[in-house]
Amino acid sequence: MERRDQELLITSLIRALGTSLKNRALYPLAHPLVRSPIEKVYKDLRVFFADRSELALVVTDGTLVFEGFPIFNLTSPLESFVDRLTRIGAPAVIFEKDLTLEDLENFVRFLHITKEQGLSPGEIQKLLADAGVGHIRVKPIEDTDKDDKDIANEIYGNAVTVVSSVMRDVRLGRIPSGTESERVTRDISGMLKRNRDAMLALTLIKNYDEYTYNHSVNVAIISLALADVLHLPGQDKINVGVAGLLHDVGKTQLALDLIRKPSTLTVEEFEEIKKHPQEGFVLLGKMSHIRPDSAYMVLEHHMRFDLSGYPPPEPGYRVHAHSNIIPVADCYDALTTMRSYQKARYPNQSLEIMTKLSGKSLDPYIVAAFAKTMGIYPVGTMVRLNTLEIGMVVGQGETGEEPPKVMVLFDRDGNPLARPEQVDLGDPEGTAGDRRRAIVGTVNPNLYTEVAAGALYLTMETA
Ligand SMILES: [Fe+2]
Ligand SMILES: [Fe+2]
Repeated sequence: MERRDQELLITSLIRALGTSLKNRALYPLAHPLVRSPIEKVYKDLRVFFADRSELALVVTDGTLVFEGFPIFNLTSPLESFVDRLTRIGAPAVIFEKDLTLEDLENFVRFLHITKEQGLSPGEIQKLLADAGVGHIRVKPIEDTDKDDKDIANEIYGNAVTVVSSVMRDVRLGRIPSGTESERVTRDISGMLKRNRDAMLALTLIKNYDEYTYNHSVNVAIISLALADVLHLPGQDKINVGVAGLLHDVGKTQLALDLIRKPSTLTVEEFEEIKKHPQEGFVLLGKMSHIRPDSAYMVLEHHMRFDLSGYPPPEPGYRVHAHSNIIPVADCYDALTTMRSYQKARYPNQSLEIMTKLSGKSLDPYIVAAFAKTMGIYPVGTMVRLNTLEIGMVVGQGETGEEPPKVMVLFDRDGNPLARPEQVDLGDPEGTAGDRRRAIVGTVNPNLYTEVAAGALYLTMETA
């Protein structure tokens, strides 16, 4: 069974369990509204067990995780099921192959009647046995479970695959479906909620074979982070993310050597490039599962806030309410990326440039929101500490008000540390000797490029 089919099956079977559980509050166990979802679950499990002996589901931080990969597309019956499990205290539930229909019925009854909270796995296992539930095991979460950085990495990789396959389809003259684009967008959005720093940090690692795919994913991630700060409602947010992911898809209609051209473009070549928002708009219009809102955001992503961009809008043209988000994300990712004709700027330098563009090509309201979420010292900024040490910002403080987390890379004499140390400046324990560390300013990152690049990888591995 393919990974995606497994995920769909699990979502559907837990939805059915949740529905049954919800209906159990109103009807007796024998009622069809309680019973038929359980029968469905039983049938689904038989399919799943065709080539496996158990199914392990883990709930961490309110997220359902299957084989280390979170399932974010939760609907309310799913949430109610996860919620019940978490309350009782079961971190990981394992369904065994020999599970019977009766076991499942008893399990739903158990979830329904158990009022105790925060039980240990052992206590839950005993209660399950008392309730006549066989072939379901409860176990504590193992430390070997994937951490957030692995998950973020996996989601990032999936998103790159989705964008590249959409673009390949378009090049081959096919119209791709938009379902996968929407799915990875939801995954990114869920991951941003779970661990924003881990997801955002990946946009700063820029060792690409293929700029366009990674750029697309980065713009999706940054746009979604912005949509969060702007408090856009759920579907609006997803529309923005999908548009971010596909904003440059129109470039597939251009010659490859034009997109990859290392030097500055001629006037004619630039006229060609200018067609990509319109091409993208047409393509998105043909793709299934893509909302018109996303198509408009793609059409308008180079129009500029002052409408001086392309395609040139008619006088009095009004852009989509959320069309000013993607240009900010697009600009930030372009500025922080090294291209053959441009050196990469560091996050804080990029923010300074964007502030200057604010009110002209970029929407000042969105730039301000962006600057606020990235902090004065965005992740990736090289900073000097009061202790004379030099480090890199690797995360924001919990509430956004507290000082950032810093990875110390150089000691006070400027020697690189053999083992860089992550310190939390908001934490009173984060001291060097008797001094509490604090940021006193930024340093020219170009002096420290190699170690700084290494630090980003390190951030992904440690902490
Ligand atoms: Fe573009
Ligand atoms: Fe772009």
